[in-house]
Amino acid sequence: MLETQRLMEEADAFIRLLHRERQLEDSWRDQRITEIHAEIQSSGSYAHTVEELAYGAKLAWRNNNRCIGRLFWDSLNVIDARRLQTEEEIAQALLAHIELATNGGKIRPLVTALRPASPGNEEIRILNYQLIRYAGYESADGIVGDPDSVALTKRCMELGWRGAGTNFDVLPLVIQIGDRKPRWFKIPDEIICEVDIVHPEIASFSELELQWYGVPIVSNMRLEIGGIHYTAAPFNGWYMGTEIGARNLADQSRYNKLPQVAELMGLDRSRESSLWRDKALVELNVAVLHSFKRQGVSIVDHHTAAHQFGRFEENERAAGRAITGNWVWLIPPVSPATTEIFHRPFDNTVVRPNFFNQAPVPILTRS
Ligand code: ARG
Repeated sequence: MLETQRLMEEADAFIRLLHRERQLEDSWRDQRITEIHAEIQSSGSYAHTVEELAYGAKLAWRNNNRCIGRLFWDSLNVIDARRLQTEEEIAQALLAHIELATNGGKIRPLVTALRPASPGNEEIRILNYQLIRYAGYESADGIVGDPDSVALTKRCMELGWRGAGTNFDVLPLVIQIGDRKPRWFKIPDEIICEVDIVHPEIASFSELELQWYGVPIVSNMRLEIGGIHYTAAPFNGWYMGTEIGARNLADQSRYNKLPQVAELMGLDRSRESSLWRDKALVELNVAVLHSFKRQGVSIVDHHTAAHQFGRFEENERAAGRAITGNWVWLIPPVSPATTEIFHRPFDNTVVRPNFFNQAPVPILTRS
């Protein structure tokens, strides 16, 4: 099928969906479809109105099968940053996103849509997985920082960035337009919200000197609405505690902190059957939730999130919509069988609009 024909079909499907859900006039739908076809015919692409972009982004969240937090899809804030052209302008918009989303700890779900890919327009990509994330350095005695960031950290250093070399150095923003050399921008410390991890009862927990950042802003996925590909559209909600306490700080391939937590809890690590890992895991998760609350930064525990997901499902049913979900991602990594989600199957059909993974930008040696 011709590229333009495919695009027209996807645009039509989106406009019809919008018309149906938002109870818009039939005349609006017919006119808008005619208009979009003409635009695609002449330019090879089309531009969403601000309303189409905003509602499309909400639908992308609502349709994302991996997300347990979808009850709040309709509260997504959308910033239209499509007019921005240069790396500097884009970096400024990303910094603004960090501040607006952080909101002094009362996190606002937010997406910033940059110019989508289109014929004659170079693709914008953010090379970071999240706008705020910790660097990882290979050293003679193992990895310092987040092992998951080693490749990007190397890349940043090739581009001239230098970190302090701690376990929690925030990486710079790295922006690439077309096949130009990526440009990096430091994020000012003042706008980064970080949480020191302490335990409500175990005082020695603070000796681990653990911390995490407050807002997860995923920045390497593609937002697809009506056939238009927003290759740079960073988005955030707030954390579910287990993402940090049961994965980022606990995974053996990440910060791997369970042995140290078990040590300060005085647990018997000589045999697996003492369940020292499980005990340490629970207390680490208690500490994460407690620390975020103590600092006034939004976070949700996995039981509450699972209840909220149940309400989302009820709402969707009431609206006459089918629910899709990815069981493997929806179940929490701590005590999954204590949540309703665990006990039934989900239809993992991918519905659009949605957020998609995209291939990393190939590294070119052009300067
Ligand atoms: N799991 C990722 C992390 O630990 C964040 C993914 C998005 N999470 C969210 N709550 N919106 O950093």
